[in-house]
Formats: sequence, structure tokens, C-alpha cells
Amino acid sequence: MEDSESQILDIVELLLTAHIYNGNDQLDEDDLPPPIRKNYWNSKERKVDRPIIVSEKAVDRVFGIPHGWNLIKTLPFVSFDEFGARINLTVLDLAAKWFANQDSLSRIKRNPALAFYYSRHDSIDVDYERARQVNWPKEMDREWIHSLIDEIAGEGEEAEDMLKLVTISAPEDVRESLNKLVLTQEQIDEVEKIVKAIQYRDYLKKIELFEIGKLLFVGPPGTGKTSVARALSKELGLPFLEVRLSMITSQYLGETTKNIGKVFALAKRLNPCILFIDEFDYVAKTRLADEHGAIKRAVNMLLKSIDDISLVDDGVLLIGATNHPKLLDSAAWRRFDKIVNFPLPDAVMRKEIFEKILARITGTFDTQKLADMTDQCTGSDLRLILREAVLQALFEERTDLSQHDLEEAVSNFSKRFELKMSEYENI
Ligand SMILES: Nc1ncnc2c1ncn2[C@@H]1O[C@H](COP(=O)(O)OP(=O)(O)OP(=O)(O)O)[C@@H](O)[C@H]1O
Ligand SMILES: [Mg+2]
Repeated sequence: MEDSESQILDIVELLLTAHIYNGNDQLDEDDLPPPIRKNYWNSKERKVDRPIIVSEKAVDRVFGIPHGWNLIKTLPFVSFDEFGARINLTVLDLAAKWFANQDSLSRIKRNPALAFYYSRHDSIDVDYERARQVNWPKEMDREWIHSLIDEIAGEGEEAEDMLKLVTISAPEDVRESLNKLVLTQEQIDEVEKIVKAIQYRDYLKKIELFEIGKLLFVGPPGTGKTSVARALSKELGLPFLEVRLSMITSQYLGETTKNIGKVFALAKRLNPCILFIDEFDYVAKTRLADEHGAIKRAVNMLLKSIDDISLVDDGVLLIGATNHPKLLDSAAWRRFDKIVNFPLPDAVMRKEIFEKILARITGTFDTQKLADMTDQCTGSDLRLILREAVLQALFEERTDLSQHDLEEAVSNFSKRFELKMSEYENI
């Protein structure tokens, strides 16, 4: 398709979407494709106001098309309002028929507002529910997250303190994605089950199955715990709240208990979302230094908060992560309905990881050999090896990479690795 043809379709799609959204109160923000929704987002009210008005400026902001009217002015169903440079749809039926006769089916299937219209008015075979499923929900948008954060921050000091304790990301800003990670079969299955649980949340509520949605990721540093949690946020379209227990354990231990309460309250406000608690063992680790029982109170608060939150009721998926499972007592273990193991990758996984991280790099590589050379290495180690090899090549003014570069990097890395291990032994 020609560039200008697809730009014409962009503009007509916007005009139709606006018209249909404006005229059907039962449609909501999730019926709008993200680029359109983001442009018309009212961050104060956290919604898209009706009517959506299509101006040349809006067309430019949504699609980066500066002089939209020029492109579509010969179409028989549009008019231009010089004042405000507004583009109007004059005859909906005609516009809809014209649009359906273009190469537009894939657009209609992805645009719930259009699917809503065509499934009622035309013989086109589209499913409105299906279109809603494939369209990104508003919770994916950074605009949604930011306006929600602004609203909470506006409520006063207490609320602001609450926001300082966590890092919040919108799913669309999450860089990790599941297809870039190499997972064990157990991890794949667990991810799949959580996806289903969220999809069937209403059903789970009906049958009163609440023991779901609290996962504990256990494994050595650099095995992908944080990455999988983040990737889930993207996969599920849920905002990601990250908190480190060391961060909320303030010097004034009395505050810790309060802070824990604040974090969980925030997660409930932001729902649906993922609450990721890293360094889950931190509280247990500091327990030895506990003179006044303050840590014990904090632990109890943490456990109680975990009990009180639920994926089915509150829409909060809780993920804890720890490197030190031995430090957790049974009371903590019991709170999680699923323990997911993050083992050191075996040779098969290491080969796959190498394949993924080398995918965009020019050169031919024997990934099997590299995998065999990197016993005991984590995914994170393999990335560091790649980093070394790439930097070394750049140092020699090369943007391609050879097997030799990588093997060198592996052997340098092994030396460092041994150094690290011997340091541990001396402690
Ligand atoms: N199985 C894997 N597949 C692909 N990449 C991986 C894998 N495991 C780790 N990595 C990469 O290693 C890096 C570090 O991983 P991550 O931060 O998720 O580890 P972690 O388990 O959270 O570590 P820590 O316990 O130190 O917090 C990331 O860039 C990630 O992409
Ligand atoms: Mg981590």
C-alpha cells in the first residue's frame, strides 16, 4: 500500500472511530486504539471526553500527518470547517461502506469501536469482544499511570510519602518481554496459569477460589526473577509497582510497619496491577539485630498485608523474589500459593540465551560451544560476557563479532568469576 493511501485510511479510521465513540455511550476508553486514546486523554478526569473532535492538529498529533485535509478532501463524506481546522464526517453510512471496501479488515479487527459498529451494521465478519481482547487496555498507557499518580499525589503529604516508597512503571514503558527470556517449562506453565487466572477472574470469584496470584520467585542473583516479573507486566498489561524491602525498612523501625501498610494501600488503589516485592528475605536477615521487637512487628504487618490482598478481589498480582530461601520462615512461605524456581540455566538454556542475545549481531557463532564453556553461569553472566565481547570489538573499531571474541570474553569472565569465588572463600 502507498504511504499516502495508508495515511488516508488512518484519517478515515480516526473519523469513524470518533463518530462511533461519540454516538455510543456504552463504549469506553478500552474501545479506542491506544494512539487515539492517548491523544484525547483527559488526565484530570482520567477518561476520554465526548465528543472526540477531529482537527488537523489532532491528526498530526495522533499519526504525524501535518496537512490531513489535503489528503482526504476529495472523499464524498467529509467536510472541512475552516474555523478550528475541524474535519467532519458528513455521512456515516457512506464513510463506513467506503472504509470497508478498502484494505481495512485488519484495522477493523483491532479497533473495538469499529468492530462494534461493523458487527451490527455490515456483513463483515468481525467480533467485537475479540477486538477488545486484542486492543491494549488503558492501564497499559503511561498517560493512565501518570494521571493516576498525579491524582494520588494531590491528596497530601501522606499520599506523597506513599509514592516515594515504590517505583511505578506503565506496561508500555517496560523493556523486558517474555520472548526475550529463556524460561524453564515450569516457569512457562506458571506464567500461562496466571494469564488464565486473570482472564477468568470473575469465574474464580464466583467459585470462591481465592488462593491464587501470590507467587514467590526463588533463585540465585541474575537468573531472571526481576525480568520475568517485569515482562509479565507487559504481557498482562498491568502497571508494575516495584518495592525493595530494604527501601521501606527505614532507620526508624516504627515507620517500617506504616510503610508496609502504605505500599499495599497504594497497590489496591492502582489495581489492577502487579506488586513486586524484591529482597523478600531482607526482613528476616535483619531480625538478628532486632532488640525491641520492631522488626517482628514489621514482619507481622507484612504477612498480614499479604493475607489481606488478593488477585481475585483486589486485582493485585503479588510477586515476591528472594535469593535466600533459607532465610524465610514457614509463616512467610505459607503466604505464597506458588513457589517458582529460578535455577541456574543448564547447557540447553544457555545455548538458547546466547541465541537470543546474539540475534541482532552480525557474525556466525557456535552457540553450543559457548554454552558448553559457560557452566554455572546465569543469564545475567551471559549478558556480561556479550557486553565484554562487544566493547572489545568496538574498541577495535568493529561492529561485527566473531566466535573468537566471545570465547575470549568467556575466558576473561571465568578468571573474574574464580576471583570472586576465592574472595568468598577468604571471608
Ligand atoms: N533465563 C534468562 N533468559 C534470558 N535472559 C536472562 C535470563 N536470566 C537472566 N537474564 C538476563 O540477566 C539480566 C539480569 O536478570 P534479572 O535482573 O532478572 O535477575 P534477578 O534474578 O532478578 O537477579 P537478582 O536476584 O540479583 O535481583 C537481565 O538483563 C536478564 O535479561
Ligand atoms: Mg532482581
